[in-house]
Amino acid sequence: MRTVGTRWGILGAGKIARVFAADLTAAGLQVSGVAARDPDRAARFAGETGIPASYGSYEELVLAPDVDAVYVATPQPFHADQAILAIEAGRAVLVEKSFADDALSAQRIVDAARHHSVFAMEAMWTRFLPTFAALRDELARGAVGELRGVVTHHFQKLDDSPAGRHYDPALGGGAVADLGVYGVSLAFHLLGAPHEIVAEGRATPSGVDTSASVLMRHGHGRTSTTLTAMDTPGPNGAAVIGTDGWIEIDPYWFGSTGFTVYDAGRPGSPVRRFEPPVMTGRGMHFQALEVERCLREGELESPLMPLSESVSVIKALDEIRRQVGTTKVSRPEPVGRRS
Ligand SMILES: NC(=O)c1ccc[n+]([C@@H]2O[C@H](COP(=O)([O-])OP(=O)(O)OC[C@H]3O[C@@H](n4cnc5c(N)ncnc54)[C@H](OP(=O)(O)O)[C@@H]3O)[C@@H](O)[C@H]2O)c1
Repeated sequence: MRTVGTRWGILGAGKIARVFAADLTAAGLQVSGVAARDPDRAARFAGETGIPASYGSYEELVLAPDVDAVYVATPQPFHADQAILAIEAGRAVLVEKSFADDALSAQRIVDAARHHSVFAMEAMWTRFLPTFAALRDELARGAVGELRGVVTHHFQKLDDSPAGRHYDPALGGGAVADLGVYGVSLAFHLLGAPHEIVAEGRATPSGVDTSASVLMRHGHGRTSTTLTAMDTPGPNGAAVIGTDGWIEIDPYWFGSTGFTVYDAGRPGSPVRRFEPPVMTGRGMHFQALEVERCLREGELESPLMPLSESVSVIKALDEIRRQVGTTKVSRPEPVGRRS
Protein backbone atom coordinates (compact mmCIF):
# COMPACT_ATOMS: atom_id res chain seq x y z
CA MET A 1 0.00 0.00 0.00
CA ARG A 2 1.44 3.41 -1.03
CA THR A 3 1.15 6.05 1.65
CA VAL A 4 3.54 8.78 0.53
CA GLY A 5 4.02 10.00 -3.00
CA THR A 6 3.47 12.72 -5.50
CA ARG A 7 0.06 14.34 -5.35
CA TRP A 8 -1.26 14.84 -8.87
CA GLY A 9 -3.51 17.57 -10.21
CA ILE A 10 -5.21 17.20 -13.59
CA LEU A 11 -5.58 20.33 -15.69
CA GLY A 12 -8.46 19.94 -18.16
CA ALA A 13 -11.30 17.47 -17.69
CA GLY A 14 -11.42 15.95 -21.16
CA LYS A 15 -11.10 12.55 -22.75
CA ILE A 16 -7.48 11.61 -22.13
CA ALA A 17 -7.61 13.10 -18.61
CA ARG A 18 -10.22 10.48 -17.75
CA VAL A 19 -7.94 7.62 -18.89
CA PHE A 20 -5.01 9.11 -16.98
CA ALA A 21 -7.08 9.47 -13.79
CA ALA A 22 -8.33 5.88 -14.03
CA ASP A 23 -4.86 4.44 -14.67
CA LEU A 24 -3.21 6.36 -11.83
CA THR A 25 -5.96 5.54 -9.38
CA ALA A 26 -5.91 1.84 -10.32
CA ALA A 27 -2.14 1.78 -9.79
CA GLY A 28 -2.50 3.32 -6.32
CA LEU A 29 -1.08 6.71 -7.24
CA GLN A 30 -2.57 9.79 -5.65
CA VAL A 31 -4.70 12.17 -7.72
CA SER A 32 -5.77 14.98 -5.41
CA GLY A 33 -7.52 17.44 -7.71
CA VAL A 34 -8.90 18.19 -11.15
CA ALA A 35 -9.66 21.53 -12.79
CA ALA A 36 -11.90 22.49 -15.67
CA ARG A 37 -12.90 25.88 -16.98
CA ASP A 38 -16.42 25.09 -15.82
CA PRO A 39 -16.69 24.20 -12.10
CA ASP A 40 -19.65 21.87 -12.67
CA ARG A 41 -17.73 19.95 -15.30
CA ALA A 42 -14.77 19.66 -12.92
CA ALA A 43 -17.01 18.50 -10.06
CA ARG A 44 -18.70 15.92 -12.27
CA PHE A 45 -15.33 14.58 -13.45
CA ALA A 46 -14.09 14.40 -9.85
CA GLY A 47 -17.24 12.58 -8.71
CA GLU A 48 -17.06 10.07 -11.54
CA THR A 49 -13.35 9.33 -11.13
CA GLY A 50 -13.13 9.44 -7.33
CA ILE A 51 -10.85 12.50 -7.17
CA PRO A 52 -11.33 14.32 -3.84
CA ALA A 53 -11.17 17.96 -5.02
CA SER A 54 -12.32 19.90 -8.06
CA TYR A 55 -11.60 23.46 -9.19
CA GLY A 56 -13.36 25.79 -11.58
CA SER A 57 -10.14 27.38 -12.78
CA TYR A 58 -6.69 26.16 -13.68
CA GLU A 59 -5.15 28.87 -11.46
CA GLU A 60 -6.82 27.37 -8.37
CA LEU A 61 -5.51 23.91 -9.22
CA VAL A 62 -1.87 24.94 -9.62
CA LEU A 63 -2.00 26.86 -6.34
CA ALA A 64 -3.68 24.08 -4.36
CA PRO A 65 -1.38 23.14 -1.46
CA ASP A 66 -1.91 19.41 -1.96
CA VAL A 67 -0.84 19.38 -5.63
CA ASP A 68 2.82 18.57 -6.35
CA ALA A 69 2.64 17.76 -10.06
CA VAL A 70 0.25 18.95 -12.75
CA TYR A 71 -0.77 16.87 -15.78
CA VAL A 72 -1.65 19.22 -18.65
CA ALA A 73 -4.39 17.44 -20.60
CA THR A 74 -5.68 20.03 -23.06
CA PRO A 75 -5.12 20.41 -26.83
CA GLN A 76 -1.57 21.47 -27.73
CA PRO A 77 -2.17 25.18 -28.54
CA PHE A 78 -2.81 25.63 -24.79
CA HIS A 79 0.07 23.50 -23.48
CA ALA A 80 2.73 26.19 -23.22
CA ASP A 81 0.69 28.79 -21.33
CA GLN A 82 -0.84 26.20 -19.01
CA ALA A 83 2.42 24.37 -18.33
CA ILE A 84 4.10 27.70 -17.56
CA LEU A 85 1.22 28.62 -15.23
CA ALA A 86 1.98 25.46 -13.23
CA ILE A 87 5.75 25.88 -13.42
CA GLU A 88 5.53 29.45 -12.12
CA ALA A 89 3.51 28.10 -9.19
CA GLY A 90 6.40 25.72 -8.50
CA ARG A 91 4.57 22.58 -9.64
CA ALA A 92 6.22 19.82 -11.66
CA VAL A 93 4.54 19.37 -15.03
CA LEU A 94 3.73 16.41 -17.25
CA VAL A 95 2.55 17.84 -20.57
CA GLU A 96 0.48 15.76 -23.00
CA LYS A 97 1.84 14.98 -26.43
CA SER A 98 2.42 16.73 -28.69
CA PHE A 99 4.50 18.71 -26.21
CA ALA A 100 3.53 22.07 -27.77
CA ASP A 101 1.93 23.63 -30.81
CA ASP A 102 5.25 24.62 -32.36
CA ALA A 103 8.94 24.70 -31.51
CA LEU A 104 8.85 28.23 -30.08
CA SER A 105 6.14 27.24 -27.61
CA ALA A 106 7.98 24.04 -26.71
CA GLN A 107 11.11 26.03 -25.97
CA ARG A 108 9.09 28.45 -23.80
CA ILE A 109 8.06 25.54 -21.55
CA VAL A 110 11.65 24.34 -21.27
CA ASP A 111 12.98 27.84 -20.55
CA ALA A 112 10.39 28.35 -17.81
CA ALA A 113 11.12 24.97 -16.22
CA ARG A 114 14.86 25.66 -16.22
CA HIS A 115 14.43 29.23 -14.97
CA HIS A 116 12.30 28.08 -12.03
CA SER A 117 14.22 24.82 -11.48
CA VAL A 118 11.01 22.85 -11.83
CA PHE A 119 10.63 19.36 -13.27
CA ALA A 120 8.99 19.10 -16.70
CA MET A 121 8.37 16.19 -19.05
CA GLU A 122 6.39 15.43 -22.20
CA ALA A 123 3.75 12.76 -21.62
CA MET A 124 5.10 10.45 -24.34
CA TRP A 125 3.59 7.64 -22.29
CA THR A 126 4.51 4.79 -24.65
CA ARG A 127 8.21 5.16 -23.83
CA PHE A 128 7.53 4.16 -20.26
CA LEU A 129 5.50 1.03 -20.98
CA PRO A 130 7.02 -2.39 -20.18
CA THR A 131 6.96 -3.12 -23.94
CA PHE A 132 9.43 -0.35 -24.69
CA ALA A 133 11.58 -1.10 -21.65
CA ALA A 134 11.88 -4.69 -22.96
CA LEU A 135 12.60 -3.39 -26.47
CA ARG A 136 15.41 -1.18 -25.15
CA ASP A 137 16.82 -4.22 -23.31
CA GLU A 138 16.82 -6.23 -26.55
CA LEU A 139 18.62 -3.46 -28.42
CA ALA A 140 21.14 -2.94 -25.61
CA ARG A 141 22.08 -6.61 -25.67
CA GLY A 142 22.55 -6.42 -29.46
CA ALA A 143 19.59 -8.60 -30.44
CA VAL A 144 19.45 -7.03 -33.92
CA GLY A 145 23.07 -5.93 -34.29
CA GLU A 146 23.69 -2.34 -35.31
CA LEU A 147 20.52 -0.30 -35.75
CA ARG A 148 19.69 0.68 -39.31
CA GLY A 149 16.08 1.76 -39.37
CA VAL A 150 12.73 2.30 -37.70
CA VAL A 151 9.45 1.87 -39.55
CA THR A 152 6.14 2.94 -38.04
CA HIS A 153 2.55 3.20 -39.22
CA HIS A 154 -0.18 5.02 -37.35
CA PHE A 155 -3.59 5.27 -38.96
CA GLN A 156 -6.91 6.09 -37.34
CA LYS A 157 -10.06 7.58 -38.81
CA LEU A 158 -10.56 10.38 -36.31
CA ASP A 159 -13.70 12.33 -35.53
CA ASP A 160 -14.16 14.90 -38.30
CA SER A 161 -17.21 16.63 -36.81
CA PRO A 162 -16.92 20.42 -36.41
CA ALA A 163 -17.34 19.98 -32.64
CA GLY A 164 -14.18 17.87 -32.41
CA ARG A 165 -10.59 19.12 -32.17
CA HIS A 166 -8.93 16.93 -34.81
CA TYR A 167 -9.90 19.03 -37.86
CA ASP A 168 -9.79 22.41 -36.11
CA PRO A 169 -6.59 24.42 -36.72
CA ALA A 170 -7.31 26.55 -33.64
CA LEU A 171 -7.23 23.39 -31.50
CA GLY A 172 -4.00 22.07 -33.00
CA GLY A 173 -5.76 19.54 -35.21
CA GLY A 174 -3.84 17.30 -37.58
CA ALA A 175 -2.58 13.77 -38.06
CA VAL A 176 1.05 14.70 -37.51
CA ALA A 177 0.57 16.15 -34.02
CA ASP A 178 -1.98 13.60 -32.90
CA LEU A 179 -0.75 10.32 -34.42
CA GLY A 180 2.49 10.77 -36.39
CA VAL A 181 4.23 12.16 -33.33
CA TYR A 182 4.45 8.65 -31.86
CA GLY A 183 6.48 7.32 -34.80
CA VAL A 184 8.65 10.42 -35.08
CA SER A 185 9.34 10.30 -31.35
CA LEU A 186 10.24 6.58 -31.47
CA ALA A 187 12.67 7.30 -34.32
CA PHE A 188 14.33 10.07 -32.27
CA HIS A 189 14.44 7.78 -29.24
CA LEU A 190 16.19 4.93 -31.04
CA LEU A 191 18.17 6.68 -33.79
CA GLY A 192 18.73 10.22 -32.51
CA ALA A 193 17.78 13.46 -34.26
CA PRO A 194 17.59 13.38 -38.06
CA HIS A 195 19.62 15.72 -40.22
CA GLU A 196 17.12 15.66 -43.07
CA ILE A 197 13.37 15.26 -43.38
CA VAL A 198 11.30 14.62 -46.49
CA ALA A 199 7.52 14.59 -46.12
CA GLU A 200 4.52 14.34 -48.36
CA GLY A 201 0.89 14.41 -47.34
CA ARG A 202 -2.58 15.84 -47.55
CA ALA A 203 -4.00 18.94 -45.89
CA THR A 204 -7.52 20.34 -45.68
CA PRO A 205 -8.34 23.77 -47.17
CA SER A 206 -8.29 25.12 -43.61
CA GLY A 207 -4.68 24.01 -43.28
CA VAL A 208 -4.96 20.85 -41.17
CA ASP A 209 -2.73 17.95 -42.20
CA THR A 210 -4.71 14.73 -42.60
CA SER A 211 -1.83 12.48 -43.65
CA ALA A 212 1.94 12.41 -43.89
CA SER A 213 4.52 10.00 -45.23
CA VAL A 214 7.83 10.94 -43.68
CA LEU A 215 11.37 9.83 -44.39
CA MET A 216 14.04 10.96 -41.94
CA ARG A 217 17.79 10.49 -42.40
CA HIS A 218 19.54 9.99 -39.06
CA GLY A 219 23.12 9.67 -40.25
CA HIS A 220 25.43 6.64 -40.68
CA GLY A 221 23.02 5.23 -43.26
CA ARG A 222 20.17 5.01 -40.76
CA THR A 223 16.66 6.04 -41.75
CA SER A 224 13.19 6.08 -40.32
CA THR A 225 9.87 6.08 -42.10
CA THR A 226 6.67 7.23 -40.47
CA LEU A 227 3.34 6.83 -42.23
CA THR A 228 0.30 8.39 -40.65
CA ALA A 229 -3.22 9.48 -41.53
CA MET A 230 -6.36 10.47 -39.66
CA ASP A 231 -8.67 10.31 -42.69
CA THR A 232 -8.04 6.70 -43.75
CA PRO A 233 -7.65 3.40 -41.97
CA GLY A 234 -4.35 1.59 -42.42
CA PRO A 235 -1.86 -0.77 -40.85
CA ASN A 236 -0.59 0.07 -37.38
CA GLY A 237 2.60 -1.92 -37.14
CA ALA A 238 6.20 -1.02 -36.44
CA ALA A 239 9.61 -2.57 -36.91
CA VAL A 240 13.12 -1.86 -35.67
CA ILE A 241 15.73 -3.09 -38.13
CA GLY A 242 19.38 -3.90 -37.52
CA THR A 243 22.32 -5.50 -39.30
CA ASP A 244 21.66 -8.94 -37.75
CA GLY A 245 17.90 -9.04 -37.35
CA TRP A 246 14.76 -7.10 -36.61
CA ILE A 247 12.03 -6.62 -34.06
CA GLU A 248 8.45 -6.54 -35.21
CA ILE A 249 6.16 -4.76 -32.77
CA ASP A 250 2.56 -5.99 -32.83
CA PRO A 251 -0.19 -3.70 -34.10
CA TYR A 252 -1.24 -1.31 -32.40
CA TRP A 253 2.37 -0.72 -31.47
CA PHE A 254 1.72 2.69 -29.80
CA GLY A 255 0.41 1.03 -26.68
CA SER A 256 1.04 -1.98 -24.49
CA THR A 257 1.69 -4.67 -27.11
CA GLY A 258 3.97 -7.63 -27.68
CA PHE A 259 6.85 -7.92 -30.07
CA THR A 260 8.82 -10.62 -31.88
CA VAL A 261 12.58 -10.75 -32.34
CA TYR A 262 13.91 -12.23 -35.60
CA ASP A 263 17.49 -12.80 -36.65
CA ALA A 264 19.11 -12.78 -40.06
CA GLY A 265 19.93 -16.48 -39.98
CA ARG A 266 16.33 -17.61 -39.48
CA PRO A 267 14.11 -15.07 -41.21
CA GLY A 268 11.02 -17.28 -41.08
CA SER A 269 11.19 -18.27 -37.44
CA PRO A 270 11.09 -15.96 -34.49
CA VAL A 271 13.90 -16.06 -31.95
CA ARG A 272 11.85 -14.70 -29.07
CA ARG A 273 8.47 -13.25 -28.14
CA PHE A 274 7.77 -10.54 -25.62
CA GLU A 275 4.25 -10.53 -24.20
CA PRO A 276 3.09 -7.43 -22.35
CA PRO A 277 1.88 -7.79 -18.76
CA VAL A 278 -1.86 -7.98 -18.25
CA MET A 279 -3.16 -4.57 -17.17
CA THR A 280 -6.57 -3.33 -16.20
CA GLY A 281 -6.05 0.03 -17.94
CA ARG A 282 -3.91 1.49 -20.64
CA GLY A 283 -0.66 1.89 -18.69
CA MET A 284 -0.57 5.69 -18.52
CA HIS A 285 0.65 5.43 -14.93
CA PHE A 286 4.11 4.22 -15.99
CA GLN A 287 5.04 7.73 -17.15
CA ALA A 288 3.67 9.12 -13.86
CA LEU A 289 5.88 6.67 -11.94
CA GLU A 290 8.89 8.03 -13.85
CA VAL A 291 7.91 11.59 -12.87
CA GLU A 292 7.61 10.46 -9.24
CA ARG A 293 11.02 8.75 -9.39
CA CYS A 294 12.62 11.92 -10.79
CA LEU A 295 11.02 14.07 -8.12
CA ARG A 296 12.17 11.72 -5.35
CA GLU A 297 15.70 11.74 -6.73
CA GLY A 298 15.81 15.49 -7.37
CA GLU A 299 16.08 15.20 -11.17
CA LEU A 300 14.64 18.10 -13.15
CA GLU A 301 14.05 16.07 -16.29
CA SER A 302 13.80 12.42 -17.22
CA PRO A 303 16.74 10.80 -18.99
CA LEU A 304 14.19 8.72 -20.90
CA MET A 305 12.32 11.74 -22.26
CA PRO A 306 14.73 14.70 -22.17
CA LEU A 307 13.35 18.17 -22.72
CA SER A 308 15.79 18.94 -25.54
CA GLU A 309 14.42 15.91 -27.38
CA SER A 310 10.81 17.03 -26.90
CA VAL A 311 11.73 20.39 -28.46
CA SER A 312 13.58 18.68 -31.33
CA VAL A 313 10.61 16.41 -32.02
CA ILE A 314 8.34 19.46 -32.26
CA LYS A 315 10.83 21.09 -34.64
CA ALA A 316 10.60 17.97 -36.79
CA LEU A 317 6.78 18.09 -36.69
CA ASP A 318 6.98 21.76 -37.73
CA GLU A 319 9.11 20.84 -40.71
CA ILE A 320 6.86 17.91 -41.67
CA ARG A 321 3.78 20.14 -41.53
CA ARG A 322 5.55 22.84 -43.54
CA GLN A 323 6.31 20.35 -46.29
CA VAL A 324 2.81 18.84 -46.19
CA GLY A 325 1.38 22.33 -46.60
CA THR A 326 -0.35 23.30 -43.39
CA THR A 327 -0.98 27.03 -43.21
CA LYS A 328 0.48 27.61 -39.75
CA VAL A 329 3.79 29.31 -40.35
CA SER A 330 5.44 29.92 -36.97
CA ARG A 331 7.85 27.08 -37.61
CA PRO A 332 11.36 28.20 -36.64
CA GLU A 333 14.67 26.46 -37.22
CA PRO A 334 13.61 23.33 -39.11
CA VAL A 335 15.86 20.36 -38.49
CA GLY A 336 15.96 19.41 -42.15
CA ARG A 337 14.79 20.43 -45.59
CA ARG A 338 13.69 18.76 -48.75
CA SER A 339 16.78 18.72 -50.90
N1 LIG B 1 -1.70 9.96 -24.50
C1 LIG B 1 -2.68 9.61 -25.32
O1 LIG B 1 -2.90 8.45 -25.63
C2 LIG B 1 -3.55 10.69 -25.88
C3 LIG B 1 -4.77 10.35 -26.46
C4 LIG B 1 -5.59 11.38 -26.89
C5 LIG B 1 -5.18 12.69 -26.78
N2 LIG B 1 -3.96 12.98 -26.25
C6 LIG B 1 -3.49 14.36 -26.13
O2 LIG B 1 -4.17 14.93 -25.01
C7 LIG B 1 -4.51 16.27 -25.25
C8 LIG B 1 -6.02 16.44 -25.04
O3 LIG B 1 -6.70 15.56 -25.89
P1 LIG B 1 -8.25 15.14 -25.57
O4 LIG B 1 -8.64 14.23 -26.66
O5 LIG B 1 -8.36 14.70 -24.17
O6 LIG B 1 -8.95 16.56 -25.78
P2 LIG B 1 -10.41 17.05 -25.43
O7 LIG B 1 -11.13 16.03 -24.62
O8 LIG B 1 -11.05 17.52 -26.68
O9 LIG B 1 -10.10 18.36 -24.57
C9 LIG B 1 -9.38 18.28 -23.35
C10 LIG B 1 -9.63 19.54 -22.54
O10 LIG B 1 -9.06 20.66 -23.20
C11 LIG B 1 -9.82 21.83 -22.91
N3 LIG B 1 -10.30 22.41 -24.15
C12 LIG B 1 -10.88 21.77 -25.18
N4 LIG B 1 -11.24 22.65 -26.13
C13 LIG B 1 -10.89 23.87 -25.70
C14 LIG B 1 -11.00 25.19 -26.22
N5 LIG B 1 -11.60 25.43 -27.39
N6 LIG B 1 -10.50 26.21 -25.51
C15 LIG B 1 -9.90 25.98 -24.33
N7 LIG B 1 -9.78 24.75 -23.77
C16 LIG B 1 -10.27 23.72 -24.45
C17 LIG B 1 -11.02 21.40 -22.10
O11 LIG B 1 -10.73 21.64 -20.76
P3 LIG B 1 -11.88 21.89 -19.66
O12 LIG B 1 -12.25 20.53 -19.20
O13 LIG B 1 -11.22 22.75 -18.67
O14 LIG B 1 -13.02 22.60 -20.34
C18 LIG B 1 -11.11 19.90 -22.39
O15 LIG B 1 -11.68 19.14 -21.38
C19 LIG B 1 -4.02 16.58 -26.67
O16 LIG B 1 -2.78 17.22 -26.58
C20 LIG B 1 -3.87 15.22 -27.32
O17 LIG B 1 -2.86 15.18 -28.31
C21 LIG B 1 -3.15 12.01 -25.78
